[in-house]
Amino acid sequence: MKAVNNGLLCAIEGIDGSGKTTLINNLQKQLKSLQLPVVTTKEPGATKLGKKIRCMLTDRTAPTCLKAEFLLFGADRAQHFHDLVIPELKKGTIVISDRMSDSSLAYQGFLKGLDLEMIRLINNWCMESVQPDLVIYLKLDTQTALDRIKNIRGIMTKFEEEFQDRMHILIQGFEKLFQNRDNVIVIDALENPKTIMQQALQAIQNFYNKKNYVIQSNPTTQFTSVDQ
Ligand code: TYD
Repeated sequence: MKAVNNGLLCAIEGIDGSGKTTLINNLQKQLKSLQLPVVTTKEPGATKLGKKIRCMLTDRTAPTCLKAEFLLFGADRAQHFHDLVIPELKKGTIVISDRMSDSSLAYQGFLKGLDLEMIRLINNWCMESVQPDLVIYLKLDTQTALDRIKNIRGIMTKFEEEFQDRMHILIQGFEKLFQNRDNVIVIDALENPKTIMQQALQAIQNFYNKKNYVIQSNPTTQFTSVDQ
């Protein structure tokens, strides 16, 4: 059987406190233990420019209108795709990103009211028309998210402070966005971290199944086409 290089772009989405970081760390460990090429990343702030943009976004001293805010996320995304996402996909890596284009649709679009079609258009341009193969949405209710942030971390980030009263709108936005999308899987974020990781891993396996590839734990084999 012949090993096949086949990149996968997977975005993890959800409200703040939904456990994205835990899932990403667990998935990374698991995929690495299967000897699979994996890179974990995030938006905003994965590149050198992105780190500066992230500081601009959290700096409250400079008034930022909604269009400018979205374009800062867009600039971060463009650099992210240029420097990391596209080169890694070309190498056949599984790229797992903490947030991506759907976060702009949910936060700047549904939550804050920016035109959804314009966001889609600019997102697509920034991403060189590459869309996530798989979006994993960690579904959580507002109260649990706020309790988790307060109890586990103690303090809220500037982003979280801004949204705490309107998290329910954000949740409705994500749910509307992900209705009838065949590249999205929804996982109950109240499940334990191991179950969440296994469901996410299964979704990755299902993606490769559709392409007739199987994930093998054999250390010498990566993705292998069952046809070959
Ligand atoms: P971060 O501290 O990374 O939060 P989290 O760990 O929840 O991802 O901050 C990212 C914040 O930026 C988060 O509140 C969501 C927001 N955001 C947008 O508003 N639009 C976007 O396009 C992206 C990628 C993030």
